[in-house]
Amino acid sequence: MAESVKAKMVIDKEFQISEIDPRIYGSFIEHLGRAVYGGIYEPEHPTADDKGFRQDVLELVKELQVPIVRYPGGNMVSAYNWEDGVGPKEDRPKRLELAWRVTETNQMGTNEFVDWAKAANTDVMMAVNLGTRGVDAARNLLEYCNHPGGTYWSDLRKSHGYENPHNIKVWCLGNEMDGPWQVGQKTAHEYGRLAFETAKAMRLVDPTIELVSCGSSNSNMPTFPSWEAETLEHTYEVADYISLHQYYGNRSGDTANFLAKSMDMENFIQTVIATCDYIKAKKRSKKNMYLSFDEWNVWFHSNEQDKEIEPWTVAPPQLEDVYTFEDAVLVGSMLNTMLRHSDRVKVACMAQLVNVIAPIMTENGGAAWKQTIFYPYYYTSVYGRGVALNPVVSSPKYDSKDFTDVPYLDPSVVYNEEKGELVVFATNRHLEKDLEVDIDVRSFEGFDVVEHVVLENEDAKAINTATQENVKPHSNGESYVDDGKLVGIFPKFSWNMVRLQKKN
Ligand code: AHR
Repeated sequence: MAESVKAKMVIDKEFQISEIDPRIYGSFIEHLGRAVYGGIYEPEHPTADDKGFRQDVLELVKELQVPIVRYPGGNMVSAYNWEDGVGPKEDRPKRLELAWRVTETNQMGTNEFVDWAKAANTDVMMAVNLGTRGVDAARNLLEYCNHPGGTYWSDLRKSHGYENPHNIKVWCLGNEMDGPWQVGQKTAHEYGRLAFETAKAMRLVDPTIELVSCGSSNSNMPTFPSWEAETLEHTYEVADYISLHQYYGNRSGDTANFLAKSMDMENFIQTVIATCDYIKAKKRSKKNMYLSFDEWNVWFHSNEQDKEIEPWTVAPPQLEDVYTFEDAVLVGSMLNTMLRHSDRVKVACMAQLVNVIAPIMTENGGAAWKQTIFYPYYYTSVYGRGVALNPVVSSPKYDSKDFTDVPYLDPSVVYNEEKGELVVFATNRHLEKDLEVDIDVRSFEGFDVVEHVVLENEDAKAINTATQENVKPHSNGESYVDDGKLVGIFPKFSWNMVRLQKKN
């Protein structure tokens, strides 16, 4: 054991933040790179079923217990004609896909994705094109997907072999419409008006849907957070969620600073909540706006190699970040941050799911394998279900290039009453010292540690490959319960999950 520093924490059954919406563990598949073609869909692959879905990938997706997957973009949706992706495959047009400057074959589309989602035990979160299109294409797509029958679009769906409606519940009103890179970028006023009118029409088609209004593309946008304030002036009463997107990188190789970036995510969430509540007050509204953090991850490793891609190729490797151990630790902290805000963050999507900035990678025709970031995502998704508790933390802190007072200890806590289980997720950001944490768990009498999973590695830059898993968790964590206290032993520079259960 390395030299240790001490911290304290109080966990109490009564300190409840919220019931966690399982959709906080959502993900994202965009028509981008090899996410669809060569990722989830590869008819020639030895494990492919009769629909062309790779079963090896489906198994890994199911392992993650992903509750909802956003589709079909991303930037791609802003110039997408959904009609290109339905009907007989041989009749579907090949198109120039402008967001990523590739050729889109449209061999996968709405219906196939719904089929795939069923096979993956997940729901679909559908995005509509508010870049080049608008009210009409959105309401038609919704009618095609959700209307039972007897109309042009719903009968067209039936004629395509889908008798029953897809009943897709969550819909994104466009994607990153503030971004200059977006085809059909809008000003806040233009977007607010268009999103409102689209939402109005979509609700007339199906009043049971939930809608996500586009927030800023990230917290560094010059128009953040006035974009949120101005667009919500229009969409507050018709939308259920506002979106947040954020990616982090470690371009300067400063690990201590990189691990602190979840504090930026924390500020981002707090600012969006404050802006939503300001509009709520201004409108004298009774309704709360919830947050859909529908793109989040680490993204920077592949930036340079992507500049070499030949334009208009089909499904080239794109945004194929190979993740390091330190990326996995930050991903753990990002999940902790969202859980601590689970009273407002109801949907979140790790971006993305397969091959493109993803926890799951594939070789065309070959293996599917787990990136380093698979692990914190897997454990938090599988064991982080129940009620989020607010941990009262007293931890030593450090300063880094961009952040001051960064606590070494970064936890989240989940209580599942039904299972009689208490789960502590904890990142130790200290690069040299273990953290020994005195955790007051008096309200959990009779609970004992059943498992302490640790993700640690001597090499911050360690990666996994198709043939070698250098970064994977072990269950030899040393935390224990003693005299009503949980003593959490979190090794230097690690991500942890300590699971306690009530003894009979
Ligand atoms: O996830 C990759 C891209 O990041 C998405 O297409 C876009 O919405 C964001 O800028």
